[in-house]
Amino acid sequence: MRLVFLGPPGAGKGTQARLLEERFGATQISTGDILRVQSEQTALGREAHEYMKRGELVPDALVIAMIEAELERTPSGWVMDGFPRTVAQAEALDEMLTRRGIPLNAVVLFGANRQTLIARLSARWTNPRNGRTYNALTNPPKVAGIDDDDGGELIQRDDDRAETVAKRLDVYDTQTKPLIQYYRRRGKLVEVDAMESMQSVAQQIVTAIRAEMPAW
Ligand code: AP5
Ligand code: MG
Repeated sequence: MRLVFLGPPGAGKGTQARLLEERFGATQISTGDILRVQSEQTALGREAHEYMKRGELVPDALVIAMIEAELERTPSGWVMDGFPRTVAQAEALDEMLTRRGIPLNAVVLFGANRQTLIARLSARWTNPRNGRTYNALTNPPKVAGIDDDDGGELIQRDDDRAETVAKRLDVYDTQTKPLIQYYRRRGKLVEVDAMESMQSVAQQIVTAIRAEMPAW
């Protein structure tokens, strides 16, 4: 299975990628999670963090090189969560997959309105060690502020502040939305209603993938 999850901040891409990984073993490749880890470790990561703090996209060349390295580590069975986000990134991904002879199975578009996205992000709690998310309103941890699995502290991402969320949503509209047309034209796009419950969205994704890949 080789999938791209496309959708605005807070739509549930990370939540669903993690569920697919647990259920079917498809590796979650989240550019946001990788960049957050690198932001504390390398000079390039620190440079990327400056863009992330402002809610802007990190330069294409940096994330494309990151994905190239991830594909070497994970040749098959993955879900790209948050990549590609520009037409240049989508073209680079096409080129990488063509070179390896491994086509993309589908691009799942998560649809949700702005009000819901803002509400979800303002109540999100994240495990900074592995990217797992909770939500104070819709999916709380058993103990407030503590991860159910590893018992460590949960944090609020610094780009989940209201003004940065507004910027990220605008960046999605201007820089990432053109990918909807890009993948629709190539016959790869399937859509899910991401306003539904987590379980319902998970079921919609499985149904959509089965329609695209009957042998799966
Ligand atoms: P990234 O980390 O990818 O953030 P994002 O795309 O803005 O998306 P989020 O992680 O905020 O939302 P999500 O869709 O994963 O939602 P989640 O499952 O957490 O990127 C961050 C930054 O890194 C970017 O701004 C950019 O600077 C940089 N970057 C990353 N990739 C890049 C790239 N390719 N190119 C350039 N720059 C890049 O869910 C949200 C909340 O809702 C959670 O609390 C969750 O519990 C809850 N929830 C989820 N589903 C449901 C549901 N169905 N019902 C109710 N609640 C739900
Ligand atoms: Mg995410």
